[in-house]
Amino acid sequence: MTTNLNTMKLDKINSETAFNYKYLLRRMLPYIKPLTFRILTAFFLAIPLGLLDGITAFMLKPYIDVVVNGENISYFNYTLTRDFLSIIIPPGIIFFAGVQGMLKYLNVYLADWISLKISNNIKTDLFKKLVYLDSRFYDENSSGLVISRFLTDPDLAAKQLINSLKAIVTAFTSALGLIFVLLYNSWQLAFVGVSVLGLTFVPMTLLRKRIKKVSNKTTVVGGDITTSFNETYSGNKVIAGYNLQNNEFRKVKKLIKETFDLQMSLTKRAGWLSPFMYLIASFGIAFVMFYGNTLIKNGQLSTGSFASFITSLLLLYKPIKTLGNDLTNIQNIFVSLSRVFELFDYKTRIKDEGRENLTSEIETIEFKNVSFSYNEEKEVLHDINLKVKKGETIAFVGNSGGGKSTVVNLLPRFYDVNKGEILFNNKNIKDYTLTSLRNTISEVFQDNFIFCGTIKENILLGNKSATEEEIENVIKAAHLEDFIASQEDGINTQIAENGASLSGGQIQRIAIARAMIKNAPIVILDEATSALDNKSEKVVQYALDNLMKNKTVFVIAHRLSTIYNADKIVVINEGRIQEAGTHEELLKIENGSYRNLYNMQFKNQQITEV
Ligand SMILES: Nc1ncnc2c1ncn2[C@@H]1O[C@H](COP(=O)(O)OP(=O)(O)O)[C@@H](O)[C@H]1O
Ligand SMILES: [Mg+2]
Repeated sequence: MTTNLNTMKLDKINSETAFNYKYLLRRMLPYIKPLTFRILTAFFLAIPLGLLDGITAFMLKPYIDVVVNGENISYFNYTLTRDFLSIIIPPGIIFFAGVQGMLKYLNVYLADWISLKISNNIKTDLFKKLVYLDSRFYDENSSGLVISRFLTDPDLAAKQLINSLKAIVTAFTSALGLIFVLLYNSWQLAFVGVSVLGLTFVPMTLLRKRIKKVSNKTTVVGGDITTSFNETYSGNKVIAGYNLQNNEFRKVKKLIKETFDLQMSLTKRAGWLSPFMYLIASFGIAFVMFYGNTLIKNGQLSTGSFASFITSLLLLYKPIKTLGNDLTNIQNIFVSLSRVFELFDYKTRIKDEGRENLTSEIETIEFKNVSFSYNEEKEVLHDINLKVKKGETIAFVGNSGGGKSTVVNLLPRFYDVNKGEILFNNKNIKDYTLTSLRNTISEVFQDNFIFCGTIKENILLGNKSATEEEIENVIKAAHLEDFIASQEDGINTQIAENGASLSGGQIQRIAIARAMIKNAPIVILDEATSALDNKSEKVVQYALDNLMKNKTVFVIAHRLSTIYNADKIVVINEGRIQEAGTHEELLKIENGSYRNLYNMQFKNQQITEV
């Protein structure tokens, strides 16, 4: 609906559909429909709950007139006597309280069940959506923002929606019952009382808009706090190393203070509402008392009716207040809902529309006039042409920021090309199913992500159905044997979040083992050893050499030996292929980029290192 084709950036506060109630309710329908029976039951339970308020007030009249004042009243030819009522009313009160309590429990139970179910179902669907969204979405939206839309908004929406509806039904029936009691006792007084109470709606509606604005801002700040917190987590070493603790602290402190200010401004604005409403109501009650006195004196009203009336009027104040509050809440619910469904509506850019399963051997890989940009601002790759045959090793070299990583990230379609095409076996990679395409590629990056879990679990992510023998083989080939043997729990050793308990070389070798066990015909190595010291680099390089055996390899490397052994070296600078050829060929080019690079970086490295 609201998807902007040019950007996937979510708005921090709002979405365009926040006021399109009909649309939002329609979107909610699939979540509400399966629970219809329970929802209706909850509503039906809310009706007697509301009416019970009226019954208590209603009973006061016969109690006072008959029991206290000793009058006899007849209902339908049946005369109520003092003795009968004085016996029946006290246990009656207990009975009604018991019934009300039971209904309330059932009602709360049902309402919580329904709202949790709805919010769980929304979250499940939403996560399925999120996990399939493409890299660009994650590039453009901060974690805090997405987390608040994923975790907070569905809860808020579902819980408040059900609770408000439940409260509205209860308040409405309660008000109806009480108004009936008022009318029954004295229609003149009822007219005055209800009119005055009705006036209390006025300040409520005035406040609604302001409350909405503040609550939106609170959500934004909440998201910012989450983002900062996530950064504190993943950036803790940078923060410590650069002594940025105070910086982070001040940032978060400011946000926390902002939350405080926002919430206090809400309280400041909304806090006077209830006392003010009560003040208005007190005018009504005062007037009713004054006028009621006259009616009693003139014999137009019994004392019982009067007591019953005043009780009803006081009781009526609560449902009216609830109605007002919940009507205000409902606006927030729609804002939350609109944020949730906006996230739902993001279509991943990477369309999985290919029909063919890529199962055959990949004989050729070709970049044909490929241009690419991450965003509208600038094109990152210009007119890339490159042909690779099965089993070849292609080494990319060039200045940092030249576009090497971008080129290889196009192969598994982390991003799609803007112009031109990438062909596997002379067929556009978009014609293959995404899963089968990605199954043909293993990647090892400079920073590899290690999931929470054991070493074994992390390796098995490459291939869940690997046999024990296969696992053993990759552990050997990835030079992990000694490391695993040194761990108390061996391969079942638990790894700390983000691999914090491992060295860079260990993480790389686990990542290599993961890539090996996937056994994909194409291997992408993006500076897989550049973050390592010389010693661990060597071990990781042995592991990589095993991974590269008999594969088609795209390697971005800074080591001469890797480059030297490549079938083709491609120099990429400023998004263009400047030169391509073998080591010898490229060295021959007078003033060539590779030759310059070689003289500056590689010349002193020993090729025999491996
Ligand atoms: N996710 C991204 N979003 C926007 N721009 C990016 C992104 N990743 C890389 N770039 C930009 O694309 C250009 C090429 O980057 P990259 O391919 O990583 O270079 P290299 O790997 O050669 O160092 C750089 O200008 C970089 O700023
Ligand atoms: Mg790079």
